[in-house]
Amino acid sequence: MANVILHPEWHLKEKEASPESVYWSRKQILRGFGTASLATILSSPETIFAGPRRSNPNPSLQYDPSFLKNLFPPKRSRSFSFVKGRTVTPEIYASSYNNYYEFTERKEDVWKYVSRFRTRPWTIKIGGLVKKPRRYDLEFLIRKFSLEERVYRFRCVEAWSMILPWVGIPLQKLIRYVEPHSKARYLSFIGWNKPSQAHGQRYGNYSWPYYEALRMDEAVNELPLLVVGMYGHPLTKQNGAPIRLIVPWKYGFKSMKGITRIEFSSRKPHTFWNDAVPKEYGFYANVNPKRPHPRWSQAYERVLGERRKIRTLPYNGYGKWVAKLYKNEV
Ligand code: MTE
Repeated sequence: MANVILHPEWHLKEKEASPESVYWSRKQILRGFGTASLATILSSPETIFAGPRRSNPNPSLQYDPSFLKNLFPPKRSRSFSFVKGRTVTPEIYASSYNNYYEFTERKEDVWKYVSRFRTRPWTIKIGGLVKKPRRYDLEFLIRKFSLEERVYRFRCVEAWSMILPWVGIPLQKLIRYVEPHSKARYLSFIGWNKPSQAHGQRYGNYSWPYYEALRMDEAVNELPLLVVGMYGHPLTKQNGAPIRLIVPWKYGFKSMKGITRIEFSSRKPHTFWNDAVPKEYGFYANVNPKRPHPRWSQAYERVLGERRKIRTLPYNGYGKWVAKLYKNEV
């Protein structure tokens, strides 16, 4: 976000992108095949995307097929399976145009740098003001809470957007399970620091690990999702494997990737981008077309995978669920 590219040279021509029907028909195919075939299909993106492509986004699998067997593809949520007037973004965009500064600041190159990054085994340490502080194995958490698929709008602060089918666990379920104390008013999410596995952590100027936070009433809302998959398969590394957060009414930088720790606190925590550039990135970062970024307007967004700009919606279209949480916060 430091080097914001609003109109990058990298851009797939319209005829090279797959329509939504390719994603949904692929889902049907996945439901039909056994898990042995699943690995083969996913490691061969050409079977997913018809037509010529410039790059291979290498969506490497994170879980072994036996673990996947009964979990993917998961049930689609009835309440969050359709976004009016929009179509699901072809996966090629989601997996090859990424913000993941631990690897590189160049969005179109993130997928090229992720292969050394190890995502198994993976634990999440939950601590602070909770009754069940513990280091949880990720596979234990995934099995404990059933997975669901939700199709959400995703709006980056850089004024581009996608429609993405995420697979995950509602954050509110995990919060209930670990039983926060009544004094817990905030949750922090902390990432990882492995310079030997991540190019950007060796050469960048940032203070690692990445860290983000939500207020407790935001976090227990039904929308935030702890995401472990997308497009009916496990998350790719460039999209945040093995586990990330998705907070659909906030700018994308709040949706942090590669979570290793969750901490409950009574005091408002620091957040990565707010510490780095406080004038540009706030704590709340709710999508707001009326509040321009200091360097560009937020009134419109460029839809990735389509050659058009559309008007940005307050709270990214999720005001019905979350507008009540805010008075003066931005
Ligand atoms: N999480 C980590 N750990 N590191 C990052 O650099 N970038 C954020 C967010 N989460 C980021 C992160 C930003 S700015 C955006 S827009 C989204 O991830 C991008 O998610 P995507 O690459 O899956 O589209």
